Amino acid sequence: MAHRFAAEGASLAMIDVNPDTLAASAAALREAHNVPVAHTVVDVTDSAQVSEWITATERQFGAVDVLVNNAGIIRDNRVENISDDDWRSVIDVSLTGAFNCARAAFPGMRERKYGRIISFSSMSWRGNFGQANYVAAKAGIVGLTRALALEGARDGVTVNAIAPGLIETPMLASMNDAARDVLTRKVPMRHTGDPSDIAEGAAFLASEAAGYVTGVVLDIDGGISIGSSIR
Ligand SMILES: NC(=O)c1ccc[n+]([C@@H]2O[C@H](COP(=O)([O-])OP(=O)(O)OC[C@H]3O[C@@H](n4cnc5c(N)ncnc54)[C@H](O)[C@@H]3O)[C@@H](O)[C@H]2O)c1
Repeated sequence: MAHRFAAEGASLAMIDVNPDTLAASAAALREAHNVPVAHTVVDVTDSAQVSEWITATERQFGAVDVLVNNAGIIRDNRVENISDDDWRSVIDVSLTGAFNCARAAFPGMRERKYGRIISFSSMSWRGNFGQANYVAAKAGIVGLTRALALEGARDGVTVNAIAPGLIETPMLASMNDAARDVLTRKVPMRHTGDPSDIAEGAAFLASEAAGYVTGVVLDIDGGISIGSSIR
């Protein structure tokens, strides 16, 4: 997504809790595109860190036009084996993190009468075995998106979500091979998606062309959310 946005000429302010992957991503972006790239280690679950980062970004770049709430983690287990920490950390990163970032960015967007907020749900938001914490967080993203869409609607701020299917990222690689194969066979298109598939959807939702689109959940999933395609 960052490469796709940079290709459009966007200035980037990237955050992550992992300083190594963050620095490497920022370096690759600077090398590939002639755009400003700021990177800061920020934990999205820490609202003070998030507010400080948004304020610093507005000072550095003049405005935050587009906010992408992408951080998410999985701690899969059957319900009786989900520890307090597995429950809280998954909700905190995916849902509270998106809330913290949106709350910090909203005032500036409303004041400037322009903003695009894109948060990451998942195909799992409709329900998935062994993922009660993740499903609750990702369904929460759908509710948060729809509520914030109403709050931004009169001020040029659109708020949408993307619900990816199986996309080839480190998160998917962390899943065991058998589970991944079973899931891939359920995809009507019979293959996993590429991060660029997500980037194209995000670029559309972030664009001025999507100004009349708000409160939607865009499924980018090779059709898996339609239902069974077993013949
Ligand atoms: N890959 C998929 O198949 C898939 C499917 C559905 C939904 N999603 C969602 O898409 C989003 C991106 O997923 P991904 O596959 O790129 O995952 P990923 O694990 O590859 O990347 C997630 C990033 O979030 C960062 N992060 C974790 N906790 C953080 C925190 N507290 N503060 C800041 N950053 C933090 C991680 O360090 C990592 O760089 C997630 O919200 C995920 O739930 C992914």
